[in-house]
Amino acid sequence: MSSNSNVFFLLSLSMSLSLSVSLPPSFPPSGGLGQLGVGLAKRLRKRFGNKNVILSDIRKPPSHVFYSGPFIYSDILDYKNLREIVVNNRITWLVHYSALLSAVGEANVSLARDVNITGLHNILDIAAEHGLRLFVPSTIGAFGPTSPRNPTPDLCVQRPRTIYGVSKVHAELMGEYYHHRYGLDFRCLRYPGIISADSQPGGGTTDYAVAIFHDAVKTGKFECNLKPDTRLPMMYIDDCLRATVEMMEAPADTLSMRTYNINAMSFSPEELAQEVQKQLPDLEVTYDIDQVRQAIADSWPMNFDDSNARNDWGWKHDYDLPELVQTMLNYIGSDSRIAQTN
Ligand SMILES: NC(=O)c1ccc[n+]([C@@H]2O[C@H](COP(=O)([O-])OP(=O)(O)OC[C@H]3O[C@@H](n4cnc5c(N)ncnc54)[C@H](O)[C@@H]3O)[C@@H](O)[C@H]2O)c1
Repeated sequence: MSSNSNVFFLLSLSMSLSLSVSLPPSFPPSGGLGQLGVGLAKRLRKRFGNKNVILSDIRKPPSHVFYSGPFIYSDILDYKNLREIVVNNRITWLVHYSALLSAVGEANVSLARDVNITGLHNILDIAAEHGLRLFVPSTIGAFGPTSPRNPTPDLCVQRPRTIYGVSKVHAELMGEYYHHRYGLDFRCLRYPGIISADSQPGGGTTDYAVAIFHDAVKTGKFECNLKPDTRLPMMYIDDCLRATVEMMEAPADTLSMRTYNINAMSFSPEELAQEVQKQLPDLEVTYDIDQVRQAIADSWPMNFDDSNARNDWGWKHDYDLPELVQTMLNYIGSDSRIAQTN
């Protein structure tokens, strides 16, 4: 697709999450940016032009987001409002990021059911009604204790035990159903835990893998809420956002499926801590297990088989564990040095 073709995105995006739930103690209580949405908008705007990508959320954007490109209020539970936005802005592609994540969803099941399931129904209907290309992310959390865990293939038993996982399996199946039934151009990637330096995670089970870097740089101490040997698939945010754009742009005839696993690396808290300690040898790591998060992690894949994505549309990650750790420490280190001198 050329960059001046008539493509308008609506990014039903994640910018910040406080809602009526509490975030894990190692993070700021609320505010700030959501983890993935703003970064994706930046990448898409660079690729397709600033005015062609509209960012939306139910929360008030911080000024640097508001002034960086078009932003509108949009509640995915309000179908008429969604339709008005799609029609008035001639939207052609829609990225649907709004969701309550795993730990937050368990703390508020009925809100998670509304946002993750009813909201998804609205998005699917809008996309089908207006012939949009639709991207919806899924997750390692769409698998459960009866799935093969090391590695987990694309097609296998999916019996997750969280409302988050149940809603994501529902999204995968409904999207594929709309594709086969109505020809909807539905595209879905199952993300592993995503690690980013400049945006905070929104209450998922893999959040520890972001928190360790901030705590290591700021206090030299980190208390982990998962057991040291809890192995989970992970990915640096740049790889995740690039995969998303590549999959959105992939010619339809290269997609043998509509929902793909993607992966980069797989590690446990103790392996991550050891890699960080190569750079910061004085880092002290202790463990205080959060039973809810541990039970969720114990039911999730330890490793992800993403060979179909690699074969079909050429998925390839750039960041392994050493590059991830170096990049995170460089970013957070320079950020905190700037903060100290200001
Ligand atoms: N971050 C990860 O590690 C990860 C891993 C796998 C999959 N995913 C998926 O990627 C997507 C984005 O994740 P994230 O970490 O950026 O999420 P996040 O928790 O940071 O943000 C979720 C956003 O949804 C918005 N929202 C809530 N209710 C809404 C409503 N009614 N209408 C409109 N917006 C609403 C919130 O305001 C918030 O900005 C999610 O679908 C998530 O399931 C994320």
